[in-house]
Amino acid sequence: MNGFISIRVEKPFKYIGNQYDIYCANAALLIILFTKGKTDFMFSIMKLLKIHKSIVLIGMMGAGKTHIGRMLAQKLGVEFFDSDKVIEAKAGISVAEIFEQYGEEKFRQCEKNTIKELLENEPCVIATGGGAITNPDTFALIKDHSYSIWLEVPLDLIWQRIKSSSHRPLLQDENPRKKLETIYTEREALYKQAQFHVLNEHAEQSVSSIINSIKSLSDDEREDNL
Ligand code: S3P
Repeated sequence: MNGFISIRVEKPFKYIGNQYDIYCANAALLIILFTKGKTDFMFSIMKLLKIHKSIVLIGMMGAGKTHIGRMLAQKLGVEFFDSDKVIEAKAGISVAEIFEQYGEEKFRQCEKNTIKELLENEPCVIATGGGAITNPDTFALIKDHSYSIWLEVPLDLIWQRIKSSSHRPLLQDENPRKKLETIYTEREALYKQAQFHVLNEHAEQSVSSIINSIKSLSDDEREDNL
């Protein structure tokens, strides 16, 4: 009937009421059936991978670390943190303002402390700022205490995504495109040291690749149970 699911109430069920009540009852039944299906589906996803270590996303600004991180955390049923946002909440000012008022070195220290604290929490998903790995101590913490994932995106695509954003202090340059290239060249060898490398072209696929990469580890390497 026009794609709608209808549940007929027929004899021997003796109903005392009006048509409206029947519609409500049918709707409630459908909601229960629908919700139960979703709950089972959610549980099946959450059981997909139980992580015993946090997952840390590294990569250039504009690589989609926050977007992918949030999706991944939701799929795994764990918390998501964006280290820049945590720093901003603690400092009460934006990352751009920290750069402006205290300089990059101070920001990198805050970043290291924040990532350290996040890694001491329950396993979660953490999206880091693009330059977090330039501090050797921060990168060592990431390598030692998490599954590190390099989200790679072609430079041209990164540029398309971020060229109109004004909140990225390192791109406040008279030739931001050139600056982006320089930063990428300086960091590429570091990003390559991540445990896994995922090309981020389609968000859903990237999330699946990350999950599959971790699942592909042997039990000892993974220290978890599926
Ligand atoms: C930075 C990237 C930014 C932010 C800060 C420095 C960098 O984060 O941490 O502006 O050095 O690449 P996103 O990667 O989230 O843009």
